[in-house]
Amino acid sequence: MKITVTARTGPKDSIVLIGKSTAKIKPWLKSDQEKEYLKFCLNNKKKQFVFNQYPRWILVHLIDDQKKSFASLEDTRKASRIMSDLVNDRKLTSVTLIGLEKKNDHLLAFAEGLALSNYQFNKYLNKKEDKANSLKTIKVLLRDSSKAVKELDQICRAVYRTRDLVNEPLSTLTAVKLSKEIENMGKEAGFDVETFHKKKIKSLRMGGLLAVNKGSIDPPTFSILTWKPEKPRNDKPIVLVGKGVVYDTGGLSLKPTNDAMDYMKCDMAGAASVVGTIHALASNNIPVHVVGLIPATDNRPDGNAYVPGDVIKMFDNSTVEVLNTDAEGRMILADALTWADKLNPQLVFSVATLTGAAHAAIGKYGIVSMGNAGKKKMDSLKKSGEHVFERIAEFPFWDEYDELLKSDIADLKNIGGRYAGAITAGKFLEHFTNYPYIHLDIAGPAYIKTRDNYRGKGGTGIGVRLLYDFIKNY
Ligand code: BES
Ligand code: ZN
Ligand code: ZN
Repeated sequence: MKITVTARTGPKDSIVLIGKSTAKIKPWLKSDQEKEYLKFCLNNKKKQFVFNQYPRWILVHLIDDQKKSFASLEDTRKASRIMSDLVNDRKLTSVTLIGLEKKNDHLLAFAEGLALSNYQFNKYLNKKEDKANSLKTIKVLLRDSSKAVKELDQICRAVYRTRDLVNEPLSTLTAVKLSKEIENMGKEAGFDVETFHKKKIKSLRMGGLLAVNKGSIDPPTFSILTWKPEKPRNDKPIVLVGKGVVYDTGGLSLKPTNDAMDYMKCDMAGAASVVGTIHALASNNIPVHVVGLIPATDNRPDGNAYVPGDVIKMFDNSTVEVLNTDAEGRMILADALTWADKLNPQLVFSVATLTGAAHAAIGKYGIVSMGNAGKKKMDSLKKSGEHVFERIAEFPFWDEYDELLKSDIADLKNIGGRYAGAITAGKFLEHFTNYPYIHLDIAGPAYIKTRDNYRGKGGTGIGVRLLYDFIKNY
């Protein structure tokens, strides 16, 4: 899929007209019937309608300006789905998008929605040609600002890569394989990657990562991604830490199959978002110094697996009483958060499919977030969240929640009990930080089982567009 700029439209190109100025639609119509139909649609306040001018199709999308601007932009992204279905159903390979307004924001939002709608994960189908979407190129009719189109193309590419990683099963994406994929993506987009393998992880005594890995036959990895542009806007880096549990069985605290385990290949979605974000930043040459940290392993029961009751010495020397081996994400993230401290960071994010509690609280509709980085940063994150429609639901992060993590025999335990599960997970992580910190729990929106408009089906790539927007505007 490619989004490009075009200066003119050919007579056979299918087109989409996007805007509010309904007077600008008429010149595109040929027959009186079409003009009649336009009148009908406008009288009946229709927002999307199609003209069949075989071999070309014209879709009109009228912007709803009654809504807040971010909500109306999201409507535009979603409307693109109609075109995606229409185009692919008729085996067309390209469409041209034409804005009816001076501002290009809706025009680009439509292109974004259309590109993201068109994503498929077909690589394991023998007959993929039959199922493959025909749409390959989205042309945006513009005389200037091709820069914004190039940027959007790179962002969508990064979201595609992120989704691919999330959709890849354990059999083809172990921790080592993930680290190789990250290295490849680094070469592609121009950021540096250093990978620590098991020997190095052992010598560093990353106890949390090693504990979770004990039940696995595959070794763990720890990847460090560095995007340091020539003249960065920030002196101290922003650090993104992503949960890279390539498969979560729960370990000895085994999850039930069917509903809880079937999609646990997605438990590295946080890692994928971090990689995707840095890919997008580097390929667009955004002048902000960012470092990504990805601890990765699968979590399995085995003869040597860590057990409930174990006391683990973490990378920062804290001791953790493990009372549930299914609370493994926080064990590996804790060590990465300790590593982050060495980088003297300005701000650190963790991104993780961390708790079923976050999913239960807000569903797939947003990202559960909490932190101690202050109101200004949180507000700016929320603003990005609305803008790209990966919205933030801020949860409390009160000191009192720390009480729930007290252990009798260790510095803290890895579960907090029945209530406030998303928050106690965040509080556990905060224990390993001493810098401004924001935690993003993406357990709800990271992976969806039924098609959800332009978010598609399976891995959504959530987090990439959010963090890209936040960091770009930092
Ligand atoms: N990977 C899961 C969380 C998850 C749930 C991700 C649903 C995606 C969808 C995580 O490791 C986990 O199992 N968390 C436990 C924590 C509990 C044992 C304290 C949970 O949420 O049940
Ligand atoms: Zn788990
Ligand atoms: Zn997990």
